[in-house]
Amino acid sequence: MIGRLNHVGIATPSIEKSVAVYRDLLGATRIGERFAIPEQGVWVCFVDLPNAQIELIEPYGDASPIHGFLAKSPAGGQHHVCFEVADIIAARDAMRAKGATILGTGEPRIGAHGVPVIFLHPRDMGGVLIELMAEPVH
Ligand code: CO
Repeated sequence: MIGRLNHVGIATPSIEKSVAVYRDLLGATRIGERFAIPEQGVWVCFVDLPNAQIELIEPYGDASPIHGFLAKSPAGGQHHVCFEVADIIAARDAMRAKGATILGTGEPRIGAHGVPVIFLHPRDMGGVLIELMAEPVH
């Protein structure tokens, strides 16, 4: 069911510092502008790689869900992995039928790419928070 790896989400206390790592140390050349998604409590910045993206995520506001992650891992770290699926509703229903836990209401919400996404609880996924996203137009 899962398709292409779309991105790896990396939580960071500072997108600016993380951008410096990807740009200056790792040599990434295609790095987007930082933008806020206030309703999700995050700042986001995408680093484009030839086959996928890195999604840098910094807390936005006091209620950001990223604060909890950074409390455990102050330097930041790998937060989630995102795979594309052809049909987000069919994927959600299939995962539910197989016993996976969908985070939140289970209704897809619009993610940072502007397409519907859901998140699967790490306890069913080998400890990895997994995001499924509707395939964007490639
Ligand atoms: Co993501």
